[in-house]
Amino acid sequence: MSSTKHFLSLLDLTSEELNALTQRAIELKKMLKAGRHYEPLKHKVLGMVFEKSSTRTRLSFETAMIQLGGHAIFLLPADMQLGRGEPLEDTARVLSRFVDAIMIRTYSHHKLEVFATYSTVPVINGLTDLVHPCQLLADVQTFVEHRGSISGRTVAWIGDGNNMCNAYIDAARQFGFHLNIACPQGYDPDPQRLADNKNRTTLMRDPREAAAGADLIVTDVWASMGQEDEHQARAKAFAPFQVNASLMACAKPDALFMHCLPAHRGEEVAAEVIDGPQSVVWDEAENRLHSQKALLELLLAPRP
Ligand code: CP
Ligand code: NVA
Repeated sequence: MSSTKHFLSLLDLTSEELNALTQRAIELKKMLKAGRHYEPLKHKVLGMVFEKSSTRTRLSFETAMIQLGGHAIFLLPADMQLGRGEPLEDTARVLSRFVDAIMIRTYSHHKLEVFATYSTVPVINGLTDLVHPCQLLADVQTFVEHRGSISGRTVAWIGDGNNMCNAYIDAARQFGFHLNIACPQGYDPDPQRLADNKNRTTLMRDPREAAAGADLIVTDVWASMGQEDEHQARAKAFAPFQVNASLMACAKPDALFMHCLPAHRGEEVAAEVIDGPQSVVWDEAENRLHSQKALLELLLAPRP
């Protein structure tokens, strides 16, 4: 077991570190656009374990490692001995002997924590059923680029109290904004997170009330990966929670719209919103690259 620095949730970094990381991500993005090569991770290797599908997380981490001068190895548990019952603890110890950092996308957050306990290199959460912290780095960067500091702002989370919603609660705490959460009964976020952040969050049942005066409206799929069987029941429960033009009109006139993607037009978001002028979802997706470069730099090649 080790005391290595991991990134399992936003709570693993201080507010100061997170704000500095946001600024660094903006800087690294500018450097890339200016054609400046920056390779502090030469000869470093990131192992990436994906137990669930991914487009953005895989592409952004792999591209980030290449652009920073290193390499990324894509690993599927089904192809590893892990898929045949090799203990997680042993896999963590062995993987740590080869690579310099490990990114994992899995179901159980507890499994991720066990893995991190036995890893001697930094472990990054690429999404669990509990939280998706890497996405929040990109979301905050995107807000800051478009509107300046997110501190003191009001963000409205509309829909499922899922891994993204939980990560938004952590972000409200760490970046100092207020989070209005509108979920149907029975789909609330992590009760512990709500209890720990009473002064930063308000749980509501009415999406219009949650959106009122918000600077940012965020939603996500109604059925997350692993919940495919619940799709029909969820579609019924969440129908009044669609983010459409009428809901956006409750927010501030200059409110932004974000969605971590993949999106389902006509379900959690209307096409008029995601493809409309307030949507910044493509910048948000792109910023996965820049913010994770800042994270990898912080974990593997911290600047003095
Ligand atoms: N937003 C996000 O994590 O996308 P992927 O599932 O495609 O990685
Ligand atoms: N809540 C979604 C996020 C996908 C990036 C899921 O877990 O499937």
